[in-house]
Amino acid sequence: MDYENNSWIWEGVYYYPHVFGGLMVTAALLGLSTSFFGGVGVHLPLPYTWSNLGIFRKKKSGKRRVRVYMDGCFDLMHYGHANALRQAKALGDELVVGLVSDEEILANKGPPVLSMEERLALVSGLKWVDEVITDAPYAITETFLNRLFHEYKIDYVIHGDDPCLLPDGTDAYAAAKKAGRYKQIKRTEGVSSTDIVGRIMTSLRDAKVSEDLNGADENPQAENQSKSSHLSQFLPTSRRIVQFSDGKAPGPNARIVYIDGAFDLFHAGHVEILKRARELGDFLLVGIHSDETVSEHRGNHYPIMHLHERSLSVLACRYVDEVIIGSPWEITKDMITTFNISAVVHGTVAENSLDSESDPYEVPKSMGIFHLLESPKDITTTSVAQRIMANHEAYMKRNAKKALSEQRYYEEKKYVSGE
Ligand SMILES: *[C@@H]1O[C@H](CO)[C@@H](O)[C@H](O)[C@H]1NC(C)=O
Ligand SMILES: *[C@@H]1O[C@H](CO)[C@@H](O)[C@H](O)[C@H]1NC(C)=O
Repeated sequence: MDYENNSWIWEGVYYYPHVFGGLMVTAALLGLSTSFFGGVGVHLPLPYTWSNLGIFRKKKSGKRRVRVYMDGCFDLMHYGHANALRQAKALGDELVVGLVSDEEILANKGPPVLSMEERLALVSGLKWVDEVITDAPYAITETFLNRLFHEYKIDYVIHGDDPCLLPDGTDAYAAAKKAGRYKQIKRTEGVSSTDIVGRIMTSLRDAKVSEDLNGADENPQAENQSKSSHLSQFLPTSRRIVQFSDGKAPGPNARIVYIDGAFDLFHAGHVEILKRARELGDFLLVGIHSDETVSEHRGNHYPIMHLHERSLSVLACRYVDEVIIGSPWEITKDMITTFNISAVVHGTVAENSLDSESDPYEVPKSMGIFHLLESPKDITTTSVAQRIMANHEAYMKRNAKKALSEQRYYEEKKYVSGE
């Protein structure tokens, strides 16, 4: 489905200002622009719902579209989440995502790393997401299921193949299953938030140790644990990359915009800068630096996510048309010619580079096609990683517990067919 042409989404946003008004107030409080959420419908806890207004049943062919729902915290969002939502979307026509509130996450599993605003930006930025509900409960209840079915006109509730139990030990999706309105998708192998938190901790601690030169008293047990948590289980396949890409070439006379970077720990700041870059042309080509290039310019403890993982996160973003997997640090004249690049952009907020001598944008600058874009947010990969370090104790505890269940999962894991 082509999101740019999804006019019904825009109708939903603009024809019902009383619905969107709620968002604007909230957005203003959060210091966001309303355009931040692109064309995605966002439901805030309001008495109105778009589906009640009949927007989504209005369809040219007259056939009602199948609406599927999937929820989650989407904290430290990664390509595993993106892949889950991609699979969910394939089971229907419209994907509604339920985002668990900050308060519910705090009460159930400790402080979220990313705020609702950031999680909303990330989820809305995914090319498979059509609408977002921002008050999903942590554990799905029968009352909420009824709301999904009646208020939001959801046809199917989607969940991963891991069992999801309520505090009383019953299956959270029992009611949906009984009603024949439950569908399951396969877990994405090789990544989890637990694993990423582990990698961040290792990475930042390694950085600190090499700074103090005082790492001799490092606990060998912890060292062992960190080494294993730092290993990615992700095996990139060509099919996964195909699933994430649009496979579309730029149209005739398209204005091609190029932006490059590490895009490590893909965050809300990335979504926003990609959106702005895409607005400057018709086709957004994103260059993703290789792991070696990132290490060379940001230090050995980076990147946290590997090249293929970073590529998938960028490809999952609705504003991206194409990526170069392992782009060069310096933009050459040859590259500009090869891809017919009309504009090269760079954000004002970026990680510091260790090497301030050479300017990677010298060629596009001399050609007069370089644009510096005001970064709307001052989040960086380092600032996200630092939030985790700041809450070190809490995350360590939460992580140790989850790491055990992850380990059990890998020990007992069996082959499951599916996408
Ligand atoms: C580190 O891990 C290896 C393999 O799992 C184990 O044999 C070894 O005893 C561990 N070392 C420490 C210090 O825990
Ligand atoms: C290259 O890009 C320019 C726009 O900047 C466009 O006018 C031109 O048609 C493109 N060339 C081709 C061969 O598509």
